[in-house]
Amino acid sequence: MNVQHKGTALITGANNGIGLELTRRLLNEGWQVAALIRSAFPADDLLIKEAVKSSRLRIYTADLADFSSLRGALDRIKAGEPKLELLFNNAGGSFPELLYSPQGRELHYELQTVVPYIITKELMNLLLKGTLRTVINTSSNAILSVKSFDPALLEQPRTFRKLFGPYAVSKLALSLWTQEIAPALAAEGIMIRSADPGGNNTLRKDKDSGLPFYIKPLMKMFFRHPSYGAGLLYNAALGSHKDKPGIFLMKDRVSSLKFTRHAPSVLKKVEDIYLQEFTEVTVIS
Ligand SMILES: NC(=O)c1ccc[n+]([C@@H]2O[C@H](COP(=O)([O-])OP(=O)(O)OC[C@H]3O[C@@H](n4cnc5c(N)ncnc54)[C@H](OP(=O)(O)O)[C@@H]3O)[C@@H](O)[C@H]2O)c1
Repeated sequence: MNVQHKGTALITGANNGIGLELTRRLLNEGWQVAALIRSAFPADDLLIKEAVKSSRLRIYTADLADFSSLRGALDRIKAGEPKLELLFNNAGGSFPELLYSPQGRELHYELQTVVPYIITKELMNLLLKGTLRTVINTSSNAILSVKSFDPALLEQPRTFRKLFGPYAVSKLALSLWTQEIAPALAAEGIMIRSADPGGNNTLRKDKDSGLPFYIKPLMKMFFRHPSYGAGLLYNAALGSHKDKPGIFLMKDRVSSLKFTRHAPSVLKKVEDIYLQEFTEVTVIS
């Protein structure tokens, strides 16, 4: 394939669903991809196989919700990648019950709100060495369903609902800190925004989806192929809004966030976890 290299995009959760389709699209367009993933890519994917062989796709493995594992992978990325153009914080999903990270925080919150902040902070220097210097946080239109929001409950929610409970709240918290931090990051040269990838059928036989029972048949019948969501994330990074920091995009349109008065306290929370906990983490080998 004779394609001109466009630089490197780091994608979390690149091995399945929307992240996999984004990886495939970027590779097909001549990008290199650094994949930060927990489990393997599909073994039968020829594009992926070829890209790994030619080192256009470089794999870094971690359970992102485990700070020791994440620390190790970030260290390997810093050692292995000279610079990054794009960072897609995409790993996540709706879990079927209340679960907690090894650090003791509710799992949606840890994985989808806290960890994207940590990865962004840790990889800022690599982004600053690139030209596009863009971070896209994968949010969700499920945030529209959030009726009440208390940052004090993010770590230990009192109640649980599939998709519309801690999942939706953690995505709202992600979009809130993204909006709040954006001016400061823009002043340093980094563009950050969040985007909803829309409805994509990413059901897997081997995974309990954590979706309400009535959503699964709807997903099978009406949700799009995950290349649709990959396209929306791609546009969020490189499309017509590429010079706008902090925005939340749905279907390629700038959309407003609810509960923005809480954005400073959400940002403070993730910042504190990063500075007080993550920077102290050592890698257990
Ligand atoms: N599908 C939709 O309609 C939709 C709508 C709105 C937002 N989203 C968001 O889009 C993103 C991608 O979701 P998807 O629909 O493509 O789901 P998916 O096919 O289940 O992909 C999720 C990805 O996240 C990874 N991941 C989950 N937990 C992880 C952990 N602890 N450490 C490392 N990686 C982890 C998964 O890794 P494994 O392969 O190891 O499980 C997988 O690669 C998520 O943030 C999701 O919330 C999806």
